[in-house]
Amino acid sequence: MKAVVFHGVGDIRVDDVPEPKIEQATDAIVRLTASAICGTDLHFVRGTFPGMKEGTVLGHEGVGIVEQVGDGVRNIAVGDRVVIPSTIACGYCSYCRDGYYAQCDNANPNGAGAGTAFYGGPALSGGFNGLQAEKARVPFANVNLVKLPDEVIDDQAILLSDIFPTGYFGADLADIKPGHTVAVFGCGPVGQFAIASAKLMDAGRILAVDNRPDRLEMARRQGAEIINFDEEDPVQTIKDLTGGIGVDRVIDAVGVDSECPHHGPAAAEAQQKQEAFRQEVSQIAPEQHPQGDNWHPGQAPSQAQQWAIQALAKAGTLSIIGVYPPNDTSFPIGMAMNKNLTIKMGNCNHRKYIPHLIELIRNGSFDPISVLTQREPMQSALDTYKAFDTRQPGWIKVELLPQGQGARH
Ligand SMILES: NC(=O)c1ccc[n+]([C@@H]2O[C@H](COP(=O)([O-])OP(=O)(O)OC[C@H]3O[C@@H](n4cnc5c(N)ncnc54)[C@H](O)[C@@H]3O)[C@@H](O)[C@H]2O)c1
Ligand SMILES: [Zn+2]
Ligand SMILES: [Zn+2]
Repeated sequence: MKAVVFHGVGDIRVDDVPEPKIEQATDAIVRLTASAICGTDLHFVRGTFPGMKEGTVLGHEGVGIVEQVGDGVRNIAVGDRVVIPSTIACGYCSYCRDGYYAQCDNANPNGAGAGTAFYGGPALSGGFNGLQAEKARVPFANVNLVKLPDEVIDDQAILLSDIFPTGYFGADLADIKPGHTVAVFGCGPVGQFAIASAKLMDAGRILAVDNRPDRLEMARRQGAEIINFDEEDPVQTIKDLTGGIGVDRVIDAVGVDSECPHHGPAAAEAQQKQEAFRQEVSQIAPEQHPQGDNWHPGQAPSQAQQWAIQALAKAGTLSIIGVYPPNDTSFPIGMAMNKNLTIKMGNCNHRKYIPHLIELIRNGSFDPISVLTQREPMQSALDTYKAFDTRQPGWIKVELLPQGQGARH
């Protein structure tokens, strides 16, 4: 079967790979009808989240039809249409039972202390083959498959695999109360869902920061007040817009490939920090293989965090859902400590939120589909990755079609 395979930093290919097989009685095999590319995949290819093993099938977003189930799977049947939560959980340990599926004790073969198990990630995440493939093996299928109602179509469902739950998780961690003013840093697909989720939680105002006009425009269409960090100093603007107080809540939806301003009033300060940023990048991404415009690590890993802390009101809450690798030690702890901030973060507990979000879509309370801007056959994944990597105008969320159905835009 065809799959998108990681060969090395800066080197991904669509290869022929063996089909997955049932390995445990609790496994299922799913034939994928939709997959997608995530900002997390870009960190791997840029080298800013190290530790990927050559030969790993990429991707952690998938929707499909169950093709085979092991003898131990009692609630899912061949032919069921399902969404696959990105993180893998056992469903029976104390963490899973408490909703911390991303900290499951049993799903990661490297052991309870190894961290989040997910598809298509580094060796430490379990070395599971990913979902940018025609088929995939799903462990603990009773928990790690969620059945889809007919009313929720693939183009909506693929957003439920990772990024809508992650945005919702970000808003949940931020502890948004009705009326709060919330700033979302990063208006990529995850940031868009953080904005949507802050709205669902009745935030009073949402301020959205990025430097990509098309992404900011999408945020504005959702009702956010937009701030372009290449045109304004985002911290000063947030202060100006909030009576000098700052925001109650910040959601960081940027992650390690954070950029710093190259134009506008904030560029001079970023310029002064160039050397410190350069050191952060070389510590985080010892191996990099940029090619032309592609696979360049962000130049300023801690930039969004610094702004987030400065933009928060005293005693505010910072929710970090942007991904930072374990070897990143650049968080500005002192600034945060001295403002009595609350900081919450982590990998999304996808399985906790997906059933609720399916219901919001099914009953018409919220339609996520406008965040999906591209549908491409998986065969052309390399070009598709490249366009998403450089944030081509209009390319916000990219669905991959593993069965190669004709691409529509
Ligand atoms: N916690 C989780 O479980 C989880 C799940 C999915 C994705 N993620 C992470 O969420 C992050 C966003 O994912 P995505 O798919 O939207 O990626 P993306 O790369 O498309 O989006 C990142 C956005 O941040 C903007 N940006 C860069 N530097 C910035 C800065 N200093 N301030 C404000 N905006 C800045 C970029 O222009 C871009 O629009 C990634 O780090 C990804 O790994 C986390
Ligand atoms: Zn993801
Ligand atoms: Zn568990």
